Amino acid sequence: MKIIMLGAPGAGKGTQAKKIAAKYGIPHISTGDIFRANIKNGTELGKKAKTFMDQGLLVPDELTCDLVVDRIQQPDAANGYVLDGFPRTIPQAECLTAALAKLGSKMDYAINVDVPDENIVTRMGGRRACLKCGATYHIVYAAPKAEGICDTCGEALVLREDDKPETVQKRLNVYHDQTQPLIDYYTKEGILKSVDGTKALEEVFQDIVAILGE
Ligand code: AP5
Ligand code: MG
Repeated sequence: MKIIMLGAPGAGKGTQAKKIAAKYGIPHISTGDIFRANIKNGTELGKKAKTFMDQGLLVPDELTCDLVVDRIQQPDAANGYVLDGFPRTIPQAECLTAALAKLGSKMDYAINVDVPDENIVTRMGGRRACLKCGATYHIVYAAPKAEGICDTCGEALVLREDDKPETVQKRLNVYHDQTQPLIDYYTKEGILKSVDGTKALEEVFQDIVAILGE
């Protein structure tokens, strides 16, 4: 099963993608997590990506597409995967469609997690992230067992650099401008499904399972 998660920054793509990956036994591939890991490790890719990410801008398509096309051909992705944060522009979607066509394959679902802008800014201020393993928490809605510490790996949790309110607003503008057109793109491909992302975390997941099947 090959799934794309669509939605505004903070809509809950990452949260739901992790649950999908665990339930269906497929890898969760998040371009944001890949870039953050590269930044943490001080790689060339990380240095390039950081300048864009800290400003709430998108990393250029040419740094992104090859990375994903390579990742989806790894052995653990043979039975499918869930893409989170990619594609994010029409050129990225076209690159993915073309790469899959070459492999004789195509995406099965594009799930749009729908949350209005008003809800997003509050959500982001409460998010805490683990930069070591990619786990995500919320101080109210999904709190870690011990305050400020990752349940999975024990690392100290941080407020992401790009989760400051002024940067969140910019990311929302970028989303409406460059990413929202993908809703039309995947509607035309006949694979778009929308879920109401304002519901509680577990309810959103049940709505997604109803689409994907048990
Ligand atoms: P990325 O890491 O993908 O960030 P994003 O799209 O802005 O989305 P977020 O991770 O902020 O939100 P999310 O939807 O995953 O929400 P989450 O589940 O954490 O990208 C970061 C940057 O990298 C981009 O700005 C760009 O610069 C670059 N980049 C990445 N991919 C790129 C690409 N393809 N091309 C170009 N550039 C790229 O949830 C948010 C919070 O809400 C959490 O605290 C969570 O616990 C809570 N929450 C979730 N669901 C619920 C719920 N139902 N109720 C209550 N709280 C909830
Ligand atoms: Mg995310």
